[in-house]
Amino acid sequence: MAKLASGRVTEKSSQLLDEFNASLMFDKKLYAEDIEGSIAHASMLANQGILTSDELTQIIDGMAEIKVEIENEKFVFDISDEDIHMAIEKRLTEIIGDTGKKLHTARSRNDQVALDFRMYVQKNSKNLEALTLKLIDTLLDIASSHDETMLPGMTHLQHAQPINFGYHMLAYVAMFQRDVQRFSDSFKRNNFSPIGCAALAGTPHNIDREFTAQKLGFDAPTVNCLDTVSDRDFALEILFNIATLMTHISRLSEELVIWSSSEFKFIALSDAYSTSSSIMPQKKNPDVPELLRGKSGRVYGNLIALLTVLKGLPLAYNKDMQEDKEGVFDSVQTADISLRILNEALATMSVNSANMESACQVGHLSATDLADYLAKECDIPFRDAYKITGAIVVQAEKLGVDLSEMSLEELKVADSRIGEDVLEYLNLRNSMNARNSQGGTSSKSTKVQIAYFKEWLENYEK
Ligand code: ARG
Repeated sequence: MAKLASGRVTEKSSQLLDEFNASLMFDKKLYAEDIEGSIAHASMLANQGILTSDELTQIIDGMAEIKVEIENEKFVFDISDEDIHMAIEKRLTEIIGDTGKKLHTARSRNDQVALDFRMYVQKNSKNLEALTLKLIDTLLDIASSHDETMLPGMTHLQHAQPINFGYHMLAYVAMFQRDVQRFSDSFKRNNFSPIGCAALAGTPHNIDREFTAQKLGFDAPTVNCLDTVSDRDFALEILFNIATLMTHISRLSEELVIWSSSEFKFIALSDAYSTSSSIMPQKKNPDVPELLRGKSGRVYGNLIALLTVLKGLPLAYNKDMQEDKEGVFDSVQTADISLRILNEALATMSVNSANMESACQVGHLSATDLADYLAKECDIPFRDAYKITGAIVVQAEKLGVDLSEMSLEELKVADSRIGEDVLEYLNLRNSMNARNSQGGTSSKSTKVQIAYFKEWLENYEK
């Protein structure tokens, strides 16, 4: 069959051009959106008296047949059709005859592709939002079981102050909460229908864009057609939202890798989510978090690629914009599988509370508490208290003990003002629980935060 749109260009295109120009092999992913959008458009045309109801029925039936063909792998994808929009329209005309040719009335591929792609992004934004909520739920479960489990809190990857594992998990909950909100905000901002904008300037046909917007689940039609066919902000937003999400996933993954090492042994990933080495029989490798960490690279690349494609484009549609899809498909698919596997890896990992707690005996985690004690109870200015504490830590190192294990006599050698009550301050659990300020790490404060996030999650309106 001849090309569907061979107006000005009459000579047969070269095979190489077809290969270079076509997006069919990747945009066929949009077949369901294309069919749904076309049916909505045709319904609107019928409603406006532009198509008869019989013509509309033919189009709807033809589209249903095409959908079945595609889903049963009976549909012949031919790159000389260029893209999924042309391929479906051509097939429709093969099936229902001349009525198929009326479908493109008051429409251009420019608003058609903007519609299909936006529908895809909106649907997947909702899906990723839901998967992120699930991940939060899993993290909250872990946090609830471990709000008393101490581990060394770190800065510069050096032991700093004792915190609890639940509190550490909640830091990720807070990040993923923002990710959920970003997906949701972007969804709302972009939930406007492009269809009916035609090529760039609207159409002289008497169309009803409110009708199609409503039928397709949008809040309203977009306002300016020139912007609409040029706009890919919705795609940039999902790419950015995924890039940020993957940054959070990557940081958590990095910790999972470290924590599962022999040096830490804070957690163990279940065998179902671990791999072995091809040569070293004893190995159990954390490939899942490593890959999750690594996959952030490609999603950043996809974001930068689309920003770069768009930055110099004049209005309105330019073929450069066909480069918008593969990166988005890739990022969406990457985020989808990443969220699912991370969720399962976390839900099945075991937490070695004993190792976490014994690691707290290293690194003088209650040094800040000693300085606070000297300032608070002995009326020593904090800067001096800090210095005295430093000297005591040096002494502890010499004795080969942790600060929390020093006796009152040993402490008094450094400063005679130190009283017996200091031992309360040096106790590691007391140290953690002393940080009871809002958002702090005490078990009490952690429980308050867990309750906050649980309530947020329960009342979250998807
Ligand atoms: N395959 C094209 C794309 O993905 C569809 C839009 C084509 N529009 C056009 N005027 N050539 O961007």
